[in-house]
Amino acid sequence: MTRIGIIGSGHIGGNIARFLAGAGHDVFVSFSTDQAKLEKLAAETGGQATAPDEAAAHGEVVVLSVPWGMVDTAVAQAGGPAALAGKIVIDTTNQFGQVEGRFGVLDLGGKSAAETNTAKAPGATWVKAFNTLTAGFQATAAGRRGADRVVLFYATNSEAAVPGIESLINDAGFDPVRTGTLARTDVGHQEARGDLYGEEFHHDDAVAAVSRLRGTVPAGTGRP
Ligand SMILES: NC(=O)c1ccc[n+]([C@@H]2O[C@H](COP(=O)([O-])OP(=O)(O)OC[C@H]3O[C@@H](n4cnc5c(N)ncnc54)[C@H](OP(=O)(O)O)[C@@H]3O)[C@@H](O)[C@H]2O)c1
Repeated sequence: MTRIGIIGSGHIGGNIARFLAGAGHDVFVSFSTDQAKLEKLAAETGGQATAPDEAAAHGEVVVLSVPWGMVDTAVAQAGGPAALAGKIVIDTTNQFGQVEGRFGVLDLGGKSAAETNTAKAPGATWVKAFNTLTAGFQATAAGRRGADRVVLFYATNSEAAVPGIESLINDAGFDPVRTGTLARTDVGHQEARGDLYGEEFHHDDAVAAVSRLRGTVPAGTGRP
């Protein structure tokens, strides 16, 4: 049983709360604009509806699942970088925002979205995951077995974090496949409009795609 603190309990964070609580983990939820909804989610998942700093303090693993433009606010409300130091932070965000007046993929100056967020709390161990598939699809596809089990791509710079994160992704009902590190040439393929983004993969095809793409500049990112 792992203590999980969720900061951003919306479509994706709410799913993760249900998946992991369902597998026996101890989940605190936080950072909703709707306290009644947060309390309903906590009741449903057997956890607690808390403030982000309490969720961060509770979690051995902290899930950061907020709109891209809310990341700084969420990190600050969690207690800032010091509160996240030593934690595993699972980042589900995608770098969408306004680009020339339209919704699009933000240009992060050659950095991945994951690296951009890592700099906001460098003492944490960051993992990028749960960001390639829609919340609706994740909710229906979790728990499939055998050849139909859906791949959940993840990336991290930490070899030590790999067994724990793979175990949590398995508990959530998916097949973990690592895209690599948080460098744009690895994780970028699983970030907004990258080659692995938005597609359902199964194990062998996912491993082959990662092996083909790892270390290359993602073609689909950095453009609106
Ligand atoms: N939705 C998807 O299908 C999907 C798929 C893959 C990745 N992602 C990424 O995962 C992250 C979370 O996505 P999501 O769809 O789960 O987001 P969301 O439901 O719209 O919002 C996430 C959480 O942030 C909260 N929040 C607090 N203050 C807010 C404010 N001022 N403005 C907006 N939200 C505020 C929301 O509150 P409320 O509970 O009151 O709404 C919610 O709990 C994003 O970076 C997104 O790009 C999303």
